[in-house]
Amino acid sequence: MQIKASRREETNLAIANEEDIRRGSHAMELREAVYGRRAVRAYDSDPVDDGLLRQLIDAAIQAPSAVNQQPWSFTVLRNQALLDRISRESKGYMLGTLSAGPTGDHFRKLLSDPNFQIFYHAPVLVLISAVSESPWAVEDCSLAAENLMLSAYAAGLGTCWIGFAQKWLATPQGKDAIGIPPAHLPVAPIIVGRPKTAPAPVPRKEPDIRWLG
Ligand SMILES: Cc1cc2nc3c(=O)[nH]c(=O)nc-3n(C[C@H](O)[C@H](O)[C@H](O)COP(=O)(O)O)c2cc1C
Repeated sequence: MQIKASRREETNLAIANEEDIRRGSHAMELREAVYGRRAVRAYDSDPVDDGLLRQLIDAAIQAPSAVNQQPWSFTVLRNQALLDRISRESKGYMLGTLSAGPTGDHFRKLLSDPNFQIFYHAPVLVLISAVSESPWAVEDCSLAAENLMLSAYAAGLGTCWIGFAQKWLATPQGKDAIGIPPAHLPVAPIIVGRPKTAPAPVPRKEPDIRWLG
């Protein structure tokens, strides 16, 4: 199965086919992955193969980490009833934390909508948690997350980091619900699945660069 490619992609991007993915030989120019990856918010219900998820995790752990501590743990969730529960609990938790202002108002409207499922009904959630108190464990897990998202894109999959889930998952009830040890800190909840469509590029602001010297 192939994702629907954008116009730019159609010209110069060969999306990995199923055979490549099974063999683990899907490859993509780095630039294509960096510039082509988008947050995906609509998924097919097709399951994602365990072997492919394992390859994404293998790519994630190639990330650099401070003092080479590799302070990450991966939790793979596919139980839709559990994902629905995490979504409900996270929405309630987040609603209690919002402040006044345009962003708070936007989130309040979204999170109050009973039809909004924070995981967009993706078939899989991969949660990357920090397992040590290294002062850089969150940075390390975030680097692993980007490797996972780029590798998923190269394999024809969509991903999106779901920040809405982070805070409730970090509560004792959240950790208990997904069976992670109390000392672990959920950092990167990333949904993974086959995109229904290829999202449009999101414009970037001009970078603020201060050239010194
Ligand atoms: C830390 C973090 C938290 C995010 N949380 C959410 C989220 O809860 N829900 C969501 O739909 N997208 C979430 N996103 C995705 C961003 O909205 C998205 O990356 C951004 O709009 C840029 O779009 P792009 O990823 O397609 O380039 C999150 C991204 C990051 C890095």
